[in-house]
Amino acid sequence: MAAIETGHHQMAHLPPVAPAPKLLNLDKLSPFVDQLPRPPVAKRDGVRPSPTNRKKQIPFYRMPIQEFSSQIHRDVPATRFWGYGNSVPGPTIEARSGEEILVEWQNKLPLQHFLPIDHNLMGAENDKPEVRTVVHLHGAKVPPASDGYPEDWYVPGQAKIYHYPNQQDATMLWYHDHAMGINRLNICAGMVGCYIIRDAFEDNLNLPKGEFEIPLVLTDRMIRADGQLYYPVSQLANAPWLPEYFGDAVLINGKLLPYLEVQPRKYRFRLLNGSNGRFYFLTLSNGQKFHHIGSDQGLMASPVEAQRLTIAPGERFDLVLDFSEHAGEQIILNDGAVKIMQFRVAKGKVDDPSSLPPKLRDVARISEASAIRTRRLTLEQVDYLTGEPEVHLLDGKRWHEPISEKPVLNSTEIWELMNLTDDAHPIHLHLVRFQILDRRSLNTGVYLYQKKLVYVGDAVPPEPHEMGWKDTIRATPGACTRIIVNFSGYTGRYVWHCHILEHEDNEMMRPYEVVAADKA
Ligand code: C2O
Ligand code: CU
Ligand code: CU
Repeated sequence: MAAIETGHHQMAHLPPVAPAPKLLNLDKLSPFVDQLPRPPVAKRDGVRPSPTNRKKQIPFYRMPIQEFSSQIHRDVPATRFWGYGNSVPGPTIEARSGEEILVEWQNKLPLQHFLPIDHNLMGAENDKPEVRTVVHLHGAKVPPASDGYPEDWYVPGQAKIYHYPNQQDATMLWYHDHAMGINRLNICAGMVGCYIIRDAFEDNLNLPKGEFEIPLVLTDRMIRADGQLYYPVSQLANAPWLPEYFGDAVLINGKLLPYLEVQPRKYRFRLLNGSNGRFYFLTLSNGQKFHHIGSDQGLMASPVEAQRLTIAPGERFDLVLDFSEHAGEQIILNDGAVKIMQFRVAKGKVDDPSSLPPKLRDVARISEASAIRTRRLTLEQVDYLTGEPEVHLLDGKRWHEPISEKPVLNSTEIWELMNLTDDAHPIHLHLVRFQILDRRSLNTGVYLYQKKLVYVGDAVPPEPHEMGWKDTIRATPGACTRIIVNFSGYTGRYVWHCHILEHEDNEMMRPYEVVAADKA
């Protein structure tokens, strides 16, 4: 049976891994001694003329991408990071729907990478500079020139000004590195930050705000005994790539096992899984429920209660936690058996003027009949002969093959993501928001070897929390996951890919192009 939530990869196909250095012994660390940090809020650096209307002045931000060090735990020596500003996650950019901004992303990194580059991977060949970066704002509807196309990277000493129109509903996006062939390393090094869009509709809901609204960014890391990041390599000296990266140190807002003092009232948490490849299965130690109010692209129609959350890399969950019945308790946020952080609820009673409305925002379902085209696209894993690393492909194609997905601007399509592998792959499309129609298990052997489609069960509707707008979806193993997408916004070249960064860096990413109706 293909479990809908499977995220645990099969280990059988891993190339031999080189022995790791001595890693931090997590059992010896005292838990809950550091406060959970709140990511700083980005400060404007004046105004500049809008690229679309030179007479209009719009907010301008400068964001250095640089090396810094930061302590992940009181008793661990400071760790070197490469990130935005000087924190992981970087400064949160606060924007309003309909109000455009400019961000200058400045590459101030050193000239040599400190994590192991694999020069066999597409775009990371020996003739490419080692240190390159380009920033993508995940979930944003932006013109192609500001989307952070993987080949638009630039080297230390250079900068790019990107234009973010923010013509979309309130939600939390995130910015991260997208440099071809090394994005797994750059993100592992710390290149992650939050970007929150707000709007009047959401303001009127009176959700918890200000000090009662906190982004929570999950990133798992392997940490050496000396406190430094470790990124494992294969035993092949000139082909160090490995198909997955899991660290036993789960950092939340850059800290290991922090605590947060909260009042007995409602809080809003903006959760992001910014990990390279890890899926989380989150619960609260007191059995308390999460009120899930929004998905990747905004608020859901109504809150969904959940005892357990499954979040894939790239996904965002907008959550309300109500501590009013839990005064005086110490509650642990767990991922399975792994502790992540602790909430310390103050004693007594407080006034809570915020609300958790039973009705949030209408999410009109896109009708299947409106789709003008259905594309069947496989997710495949190709295992090579012993000693050769595996590769993951979208629709059987590599990055450099000609563009095959060319949706027409403003048209609606259904994409059938046929996952023929044993792993769940979180599939993300740039530019758009979409809805999931259903998932249906199929006989992958028959599909692969006889090119025949045989379903082995009924179509399963999305889970209640997946009924909102999405930009990243779990394509579950051995199943066809159908999404419906309206390609609105801009024409031009974008990408779609698996958000397991090791897969993305090794061919599980494809360009796609939105074309004008008269050019189709
Ligand atoms: Cu989160 Cu192509 O990105
Ligand atoms: Cu994206
Ligand atoms: Cu994948």
